[in-house]
Amino acid sequence: MRKNIVAGNWKMNLSHKEALSLYDSLKTNSNEMDKHTTVIVAPPSIYLSEFSKNKNEKIKLAAQNCSENENGAFTGEISASMLQSIGVEYCLVGHSERRAYFNETNELLKHKVEALLAKAITPIYCFGEVLKERESGNHFEVVKAQVSEALFHLSAEAISKIVLAYEPVWAIGTGKTASPDQAQEMHQFVRRLLSDKYGEAVAKEISILYGGSCKPTNAKELFANQDVDGGLIGGAALKAETFIPVINGF
Ligand code: PGA
Repeated sequence: MRKNIVAGNWKMNLSHKEALSLYDSLKTNSNEMDKHTTVIVAPPSIYLSEFSKNKNEKIKLAAQNCSENENGAFTGEISASMLQSIGVEYCLVGHSERRAYFNETNELLKHKVEALLAKAITPIYCFGEVLKERESGNHFEVVKAQVSEALFHLSAEAISKIVLAYEPVWAIGTGKTASPDQAQEMHQFVRRLLSDKYGEAVAKEISILYGGSCKPTNAKELFANQDVDGGLIGGAALKAETFIPVINGF
């Protein structure tokens, strides 16, 4: 059975003191978190090493990005092997903010995914259409390209190790959530793409998360959908009081 996962993306937020305090309060309250849900936090990378040394069994760590290169003269970058060396288990790949502000393309993301898999770090591959694409009815085509161009060169064994996150860009940080039906429709579409390419047995084992203004008041109805296996949470992940109820939204 595929996993239920709730991941918190802290983005470029929180001072060292604030980040430690949030991490501590999540750890202190980890016994309140649904036992069957994998919980992940993705703090700014500068905090990862310290968090990793004070890890809690329940809360896994993710980076928000990594380089597609192995090592060398790439000032400012962090490699998959560096993440592996401090015990980071997951990494976001292709978040819409990275696609929009750092020009990340499907072709580049393909290499990031490979770099992570080579170090046994689970990529959380993000994709989703912008408002214009949805309004013009192109959202399925856009998502199909994002998923197939970055991932469909992988073997069935490799793709089984990936987590997917559908994040319609118009819903991120806007307070405007996709309806449960819109989320289910896209998740089902993506699972069908996976199934057509890799077969049903592989497709049904891959977790597909929803992201975009997911919060305590809507997590339950989103997670209740058959093909929605959890969430990638931004704003609501910045406070234990809002993140924990989302974790418990199944
Ligand atoms: P949001 O962000 O929950 O603040 O909309 C989600 C994300 O960008 O991962």
